Amino acid sequence: MKKILVATEKPFAKVAVDGIKEVAAEAGIEVVMLEKYTEKAELLAAVADVDAMIIRSDKVDNEVFDAAKQLKIVVRAGAGYDNVDLVAATAHGVVVMNTPGQNSNAVAELVFGMLVYAARNFYNGKAGTELKGKKLGILAYGNVGRRVAHIAKGFDMDVYAYDAYCPASAIESDGVKAVASQDELFAQCGIVSLHIPATAETRQSINAALVGKMPKGAILVNTARKEIINEPELLALMKERGDLKFMTDIMPDADAEFRVFEGRYFSTPKKMGAQTAEANINAGVAAARQIAAFFKDGCTKFQVNK
Ligand code: 3PG
Repeated sequence: MKKILVATEKPFAKVAVDGIKEVAAEAGIEVVMLEKYTEKAELLAAVADVDAMIIRSDKVDNEVFDAAKQLKIVVRAGAGYDNVDLVAATAHGVVVMNTPGQNSNAVAELVFGMLVYAARNFYNGKAGTELKGKKLGILAYGNVGRRVAHIAKGFDMDVYAYDAYCPASAIESDGVKAVASQDELFAQCGIVSLHIPATAETRQSINAALVGKMPKGAILVNTARKEIINEPELLALMKERGDLKFMTDIMPDADAEFRVFEGRYFSTPKKMGAQTAEANINAGVAAARQIAAFFKDGCTKFQVNK
């Protein structure tokens, strides 16, 4: 009998785990759980005899692949797969997949949770501002970016987007204004929401030169990855610009230094964007289905290491 290890340092909701087990049982696959682990050694021991893994932001590196002698497939239940060493996976003959789109709505809703909190001055009693009529810039128009645009229209916001890999016509067909560059997006919009992945190209790309272009009263929201922020430069800019707010769902390395900007900085203690029952079910069950289809028919749809 094949075995799936669900290795989640940040566990799924129970209903999602039940859903994964149901799909696996139908496919004749056993499920073993490793939740809330704190040591890598626990992961290394747990992977020893499994054929598949479902993970979230859990790090799967060369050492994990070395320890997982039977492993054939890893599915990242979510969008970003920067936590998996794809080169090592390929070298070990392991297929890596993600589950694109399955948790996007949850992340997009959190963007607005954080935006209202920022616009209303962290609910400190002082008059804030509304989102209606404000210019929102969406950086990267993927599954989350699209969902953010959709919700923003409900707030009557003026929505702009830039995506180096998405044609302007696709953005415009959603009734969103496509701008020609990242610089233009930041210069135009008082609110910018980040949805770029962490890649060699994007690491530390959100720097002072870029954020400094934002109009007065700017709000920067990050629900993507902490690696895309140039933290020293953003810290210096926030010191210089008392009007700038930074809301993030990924705690920066320099969290203690950002905390100095009381009322202008907020970070969730743990990444919460995809942490809803619905997103857990969607992404977790999709991952289980993808593994079942892989073992049954060799289906490699959603493979990211090819
Ligand atoms: C993703 O890439 O899907 C999101 O960042 C969610 O990550 P999580 O599953 O670790 O919450």
